[in-house]
Amino acid sequence: MKVLILGSGGREHALAWAAARSPRVTEVVCAPGNGGIAQTARCAPVKLNDLESMVRLAVAERPGLIIVGPELPLSLGVVDALRERGLRVFGPTRVAAMLETSKGFAKRFLQRHNIPTGNYAVCATAAEFGKAVDLFHPPIVVKADGLAAGKGVIICPSRATAMEAAQGLFSGELLGAAERQVVLEEFLEGEEISFLCLCDGSHVVPLAPAQDHKRIGDGDTGPNTGGMGVYSTDAMLDPGMTEWILRHIAEPTVRGMADEDVPFTGVLYCGLMITARGPQVLEFNVRFGDPETQAILVRLESDLIDALDAAIDGELAETELRWAPGASACVVASSAGYPGNYKTGWPIAGLGAAGQTPGVQIFHAGTAQAGGQLVTAGGRVLGVTAMADSLEEALDRAYRAMDEISFEGIYYRRDIGRRALKGAAHV
Ligand code: AMP
Ligand code: GLY
Repeated sequence: MKVLILGSGGREHALAWAAARSPRVTEVVCAPGNGGIAQTARCAPVKLNDLESMVRLAVAERPGLIIVGPELPLSLGVVDALRERGLRVFGPTRVAAMLETSKGFAKRFLQRHNIPTGNYAVCATAAEFGKAVDLFHPPIVVKADGLAAGKGVIICPSRATAMEAAQGLFSGELLGAAERQVVLEEFLEGEEISFLCLCDGSHVVPLAPAQDHKRIGDGDTGPNTGGMGVYSTDAMLDPGMTEWILRHIAEPTVRGMADEDVPFTGVLYCGLMITARGPQVLEFNVRFGDPETQAILVRLESDLIDALDAAIDGELAETELRWAPGASACVVASSAGYPGNYKTGWPIAGLGAAGQTPGVQIFHAGTAQAGGQLVTAGGRVLGVTAMADSLEEALDRAYRAMDEISFEGIYYRRDIGRRALKGAAHV
């Protein structure tokens, strides 16, 4: 079977790597891919913001399975468009993707279905926001309704700063485009968990849990990024907690979508805060997380392609995934300046030696081939991922591999998984 993966980041490299491990897969094509993916899959040019470009490529390639990586093509309706051409695609339709593409839709949906989430208000004007903000205690969370590539959440220390943030979102000053709706949210405290599930429209199969590290700096300081590192262990959620999240969050979400005639197929990524009053939904994503996927897929022992096929065919009830026991961790190497401005085109050295470290897989995010050299080409450059019997050993392996790698301005967090090692993140 030929598999086509749409996307160009570390998540897509991990998906391509996992797909290539399936005995059923004869060829992996990744579009547009990146410099590292090109070493394991054939890369084909495509524009992820252009439906026609993606449809043209898929129709020409005729893959047996298409996996959509990022949210942008999902928000454009790439799944609907490809299915209309008779292609098999793993991912939600444009309307089902609203769980991620409209935070207002997601919050109202959660409330309609009694799924635990923080208090909120969805506001259509600054005046409405001004009234609603009086009902919330600082810190106040202000969110853009639409996709914002991780830049749409502002945690405000006062009502006045919340009002300012809302005005910046409505005017377009903050994100470049004016928001039609702004969401106000209660600030939740606790441990954050990325709880990803495969969904087939009615059934839910959880993936191994993971914890992302979103801030750029050690000790969770500085601006938010796409994710600077992740770890995954079984101990981070005990079986009772996993069961609770399935029964009270993931399953009611998929059931609710089906009841509203928008069956959800694909990955439901529940961004949860484990608070004093139990797990609460912070947000949904409707795709694999990045870099969660890198740490999750190295632990997956089952055939990824079989599982995605079962999701497309509505057969997840019979699917059980096998996971390597122990732990995994992914540490992201980024360009100096990220998530702000950064330079690219720096040669990357040491990948050969780093890749020899036992249990290590290196997934490329922002890399390219230039003049027979691998060079940096993005903010997040590499996801150095390791597996081991314990989290301590997995982190040790990832950081030992990272020590081998160099490029101008390389930056990575030194504290991925550190809190878990101290016991704080075991919820
Ligand atoms: P989101 O884009 O919704 O994932 O938000 C980005 C990050 O902001 C989350 O990963 C949380 O760390 C933080 N965040 C979002 N909503 C809340 C909330 N209601 N309370 C506290 N932190 C939040
Ligand atoms: N790592 C967070 C995300 O994929 O949205």
